[in-house]
Amino acid sequence: MIIELDTLTINKIAAGEVIERPASVVKELVENSIDAGSTQIKVALQEGGKKLIEITDDGSGMNHTDALLSIKRHTTSKIAKAEDLFSIASLGFRGEALASIVSVAQVEIFTKREDDELGTHIQVEGGKILLDKNISVANGTKITVRNLFYNVPVRRKFLKSETTEMNHITEYITKLALAFPEISFSLVHNNRSVITAPKGDLLSQINSIFGKNIAKACIPISRTEDEYTVTGFITKPEFSRKSRDYLYVFVLNRPIVNKVITDAILRGYSTALPHNRSPIVFLNITIPKNEVDVNVHPTKKEVRFSKEAKLFSLVEIAVKESLEKSGLEIFERVSETKYKPTILDKHSSPKTVSKTQPKQIQSSPSPSLVQDKVGYKVVKTREKSIDHFLPSTQRGTSYQKPEHTPKSMIKILGIIKDTYIIAETNEGLLLCDQHAAHEKINYSKYVDQIERKKINVQSLLAPVSVSIKPSELEVINDLKIKLKEYGFELEIFGKNEILIRTIPSIMGVAISYDLAKDLIDIFKENIDQISKQTKPEDLDFIKDIVSIFACRRSIKAGDKISVSEAESLIENLLKLEEPYTCPHGRPTMVILNQQYIEEIFQRDYKS
Ligand SMILES: Nc1ncnc2c1ncn2[C@@H]1O[C@H](COP(=O)(O)OP(=O)(O)OP(=O)(O)O)[C@@H](O)[C@H]1O
Ligand SMILES: [Mg+2]
Repeated sequence: MIIELDTLTINKIAAGEVIERPASVVKELVENSIDAGSTQIKVALQEGGKKLIEITDDGSGMNHTDALLSIKRHTTSKIAKAEDLFSIASLGFRGEALASIVSVAQVEIFTKREDDELGTHIQVEGGKILLDKNISVANGTKITVRNLFYNVPVRRKFLKSETTEMNHITEYITKLALAFPEISFSLVHNNRSVITAPKGDLLSQINSIFGKNIAKACIPISRTEDEYTVTGFITKPEFSRKSRDYLYVFVLNRPIVNKVITDAILRGYSTALPHNRSPIVFLNITIPKNEVDVNVHPTKKEVRFSKEAKLFSLVEIAVKESLEKSGLEIFERVSETKYKPTILDKHSSPKTVSKTQPKQIQSSPSPSLVQDKVGYKVVKTREKSIDHFLPSTQRGTSYQKPEHTPKSMIKILGIIKDTYIIAETNEGLLLCDQHAAHEKINYSKYVDQIERKKINVQSLLAPVSVSIKPSELEVINDLKIKLKEYGFELEIFGKNEILIRTIPSIMGVAISYDLAKDLIDIFKENIDQISKQTKPEDLDFIKDIVSIFACRRSIKAGDKISVSEAESLIENLLKLEEPYTCPHGRPTMVILNQQYIEEIFQRDYKS
């Protein structure tokens, strides 16, 4: 039987697209305040916005009729006809946001236009109007949203941690404050001020949000080609970060993430930037309104341009010029990304192959050696049976660890290419990758210390200080206690500086400024994992950190080690619970047992 859905159900379904989380409510409401011509917007939150979101603006306000209309679906003052969609001047245009929000939360609206004597107070819960009266209030609009998803328990249950929500919200307000420097923004969470950005210009906003270090590092950028303009600031490569979230790009004042523009920026920096690093940039791009389509995605996160190539070259040249003016010499990177029309491709930009990547040791014999029939068979058998020698986690059957202490059985036969240890054991011929083995041993020591809550830390004589932005400060503030359990003691210094006081001893004596920046990025990327109580060995972020330091501290492929060092390496490795894979799941060693060796030589004793 087909039935027509009622309005509340329709709105709840649609809310699923527009309103995913507290951050989306904040986004929609603040955008409405901007569209209403506000000069001051205040955002106050409780419990990451899950309990309360309150937005106060001094914009146009609404009269009584409009206030009631605003919460209905497809009611908007911003466009009137389909053609308007192709030249949108406002941030909103669908007339969906408020209708969606009131269907999934408890909402109150206080609003008054300057010319009206009295304002309006409406209270809505799950789409139903509970109260509607005239009231004496300030000009502008105040909207409070309580208990988001109170009537959609499944969604409420799956909301991310407060820290994650705050990270999103703070980041979004940061973007809007940069896109609209003529508006004052403030963000308060649990009565604590997170962002205070009084109105000014782009540089003053950068200064109030990112701090003076980053503001001082800003290099102006400006270029115009026909009706295309790019303005703003970029920074020298030493401020680059591992994560891409310091690329602030605004097209017609709308914060966007777009691969074409990201690629153009990176290409502009070219060799000035280390591989896989992203600069800090703040770019405002103006293009004709009808050349950008913002109506691609319900949350307007994606935009499409009709003349990508033109945009690409404008941005690339502008970045290059501005860096050169600042005294940096830029060399063209040979294998660099050239412009490709890729707007529909959501994947990250193609990675250029690093020349400095560790050399891959040639693993398989060249095919010419195994051309004859017998040889071919050998290779085939090998491919099939190599499975027996992989660590237990990588194959179906379980591998039994040798019962007896392996100590007496290890006889080092040699080390080839200063990389692979060959040893004879009771199990068979053992091949061990010295780097992977050492990395695994270090990693296991660290995890063991975390588990015993006896982490050895090292105080940094000269603590490394990193410039951070408000969203990062929020994250670190919330994770501080947890991070201490892993040996990282961080101290927040003012609003934009973070000091790394201690690191796990296993990381070595000093950490560089670059590594410190990477650590912050890694913590940020793993907010939810860190805040949840997980076993240390399940935490990918720890593996990331280990890979950073273990690679620097561990014996490397190519390092000369003595026979006794090789022996103790293998001994220590075999003492571990899971000795066969490194933290990243690559094999640390393989054992070629008698049966395997016999198969290679086609000596089948059993038959
Ligand atoms: N803070 C505000 N001040 C003044 N008017 C507002 C405010 N918030 C909403 N409105 C009015 O309510 C209408 C509906 O808002 P809503 O956010 O639901 O839709 P929209 O902004 O038009 O489109 P979108 O769904 O794309 O955001 C707006 O068009 C605007 O006229
Ligand atoms: Mg809106």
